[in-house]
Amino acid sequence: MLKINNISKTFYPGTVNEKKALDGLSLELQDGDFATIIGSNGAGKSTLFNAIAGVWTTDSGEIYIDGENVTFAPETYRAKFVGRIFQDPMKGTSPSLTIEENLALAYSGGRKGFLRSAVSKKDRETFREVLAPLDMGLEDRLKVPMGTLSGGQRQAVTLIMATIVTPKLLLLDEHTAALDPLTAEKVLAITKQIVEERKITTLMITHNMANSLELGNRTILMDNGAIAIDLKGDERKNMTVPGLLELYRQVKGKALDNDRMLLSSE
Ligand SMILES: Nc1ncnc2c1ncn2[C@@H]1O[C@H](COP(=O)(O)OP(=O)(O)OP(=O)(O)O)[C@@H](O)[C@H]1O
Ligand SMILES: [Mg+2]
Repeated sequence: MLKINNISKTFYPGTVNEKKALDGLSLELQDGDFATIIGSNGAGKSTLFNAIAGVWTTDSGEIYIDGENVTFAPETYRAKFVGRIFQDPMKGTSPSLTIEENLALAYSGGRKGFLRSAVSKKDRETFREVLAPLDMGLEDRLKVPMGTLSGGQRQAVTLIMATIVTPKLLLLDEHTAALDPLTAEKVLAITKQIVEERKITTLMITHNMANSLELGNRTILMDNGAIAIDLKGDERKNMTVPGLLELYRQVKGKALDNDRMLLSSE
């Protein structure tokens, strides 16, 4: 479903601020793979997502999504089949639009002019159905502005928006990191349910090492713009958090360093 061949990206080349953020990274995801990504601050995790989403083009290498070479395709084109959620709950939705308007926007694939035609009764029914399993009572608050919801409620709706039209690829960048622990757990459970039920090929960046081993079927550890460790199958099944830290130390010759990882209790 996703094939990345040897991509590199250097920011501010030829200046004192030159930074090689992606360094010959290759990665292949099969249909329905759910991979978690961990790594030190500045390892290039979010940059990898920017490369896949097409925020800019890479300096070299190729990216294929579902067999299509999208290496030079613009972000707007890739957005039709790549869903993305960020850490910041304010980022994914329009605060002044209502829940149903936000969902209608996602449902229409971002087509212009969708608001001119009122949300149909049938669409509203669909929105109720997709919101109800969140168990947040949002199905009865369709006409409430997104801006009035809590961070957790917004991330849950963002998740629904990103998957209302099933994406070929879902990119989650620490999408529960800004939520309180209980809400984070809930949004994570909903994520797991949606991704697994609908077999959506997913990459999820997390700073929670326990989650990185528990959720999905692969754990990818990034370092210095490349993949240092890629765990799957039995090796992953038998891995523990201390074991992973030790493996990293062996592979890289240094300890894993990530502010949020070290701060989180897991
Ligand atoms: N648009 C940009 N312009 C310049 N430098 C950038 C840009 N985007 C990323 N970088 C640099 O690339 C490196 C990788 O950043 P990235 O955001 O991918 O790290 P990360 O692995 O997501 O880290 P974190 O865990 O802190 O979120 C960093 O040194 C960062 O400063
Ligand atoms: Mg990041």
